[in-house]
Amino acid sequence: MTASHDVPFRLVIHGGAGAIKQSRLSAEREAAYRQVLTQSLSAGYDVLKIGGSCIDAVTAAIVVMEDSPLFNAGKGSVFSREGQNELEASIMEGSTRLAGAVAGVTTVRNPIRAAHAVMTKSTHTMLIGPGAEIFAAEQGLEIVDPEYFHTSYRWEQLQKALAKKQVLRDHDIDSNRPFTNNDKKHGTVGAVALDRHGNLAAGTSTGGLTNKRRGRVGDSSIIGAGTYADNRSVAVSATGTGEMFIRTAAAYQTAAQIMLLQKPIHEAADTTLKEISSIGGDGGLIVLNVKGDYAMRFNTSGMYQGTIGHNGIAWTGIFHDESEI
Ligand code: GLY
Repeated sequence: MTASHDVPFRLVIHGGAGAIKQSRLSAEREAAYRQVLTQSLSAGYDVLKIGGSCIDAVTAAIVVMEDSPLFNAGKGSVFSREGQNELEASIMEGSTRLAGAVAGVTTVRNPIRAAHAVMTKSTHTMLIGPGAEIFAAEQGLEIVDPEYFHTSYRWEQLQKALAKKQVLRDHDIDSNRPFTNNDKKHGTVGAVALDRHGNLAAGTSTGGLTNKRRGRVGDSSIIGAGTYADNRSVAVSATGTGEMFIRTAAAYQTAAQIMLLQKPIHEAADTTLKEISSIGGDGGLIVLNVKGDYAMRFNTSGMYQGTIGHNGIAWTGIFHDESEI
């Protein structure tokens, strides 16, 4: 593979934003989160450093988080009202603006791989439900019994949510308390990457909401809402209240402000988050451009996040006061 070594490749990831309170996050759990974030960064870095594509780096980074029970994606996905785990993911590359997405899948171990396959092995952009699962199996992706996604922690969360007739907006892994307006976490995972060829990609994966209605689809599988990439502007992945991110076309809105209004990337992300806030939502965005400039912005108290560049030094963060930029 030919690589342009003068391009400063970079990977930025998130593992969900929300009301993550330092005082309530045990040292052990914080270390566990940081460990998986670092493993995710390392997986993407290994692809980028040898000249691999941004799409493969994004996929590799997200697979690590999907395979961890800590995050609300893949293995750690939350339960719907009917006691099922309905997963979704999307991916997009900025050079061609090709994209792939799946939603409502219950047997695909790594939905981001299925989204990648939709993009690269089909003529479609989005597949849902059984059709997406059949396609994933045809592509040789790992199919699991739905029981694979059953974790007792998430099951207990569902029972509490059902008892209180609440929709939990996140995996709420640290406190195990039901959702209130002051207690929101969003466990979605995502990644944006710039490769040595100067190309951008973005990807996002989630289990959605605890006690969500069957068939509910969030922003994570919607191109332009939870995921967007265009080499002319930026790659974006979102985490937060999916309905509001869909209604504001959050990822595309961020990219459009940069491409059409030449806004600095931090400012564009903050403007989008303000827009989301104005209709009652919250969450975070990671943004990366072809120069390797990036932003990790959130209007919640915390966001699991990390980044790594060509020097190979991984940085992870959770709270505002430790944000790298
Ligand atoms: N942002 C993830 C979801 O709302 O499903």
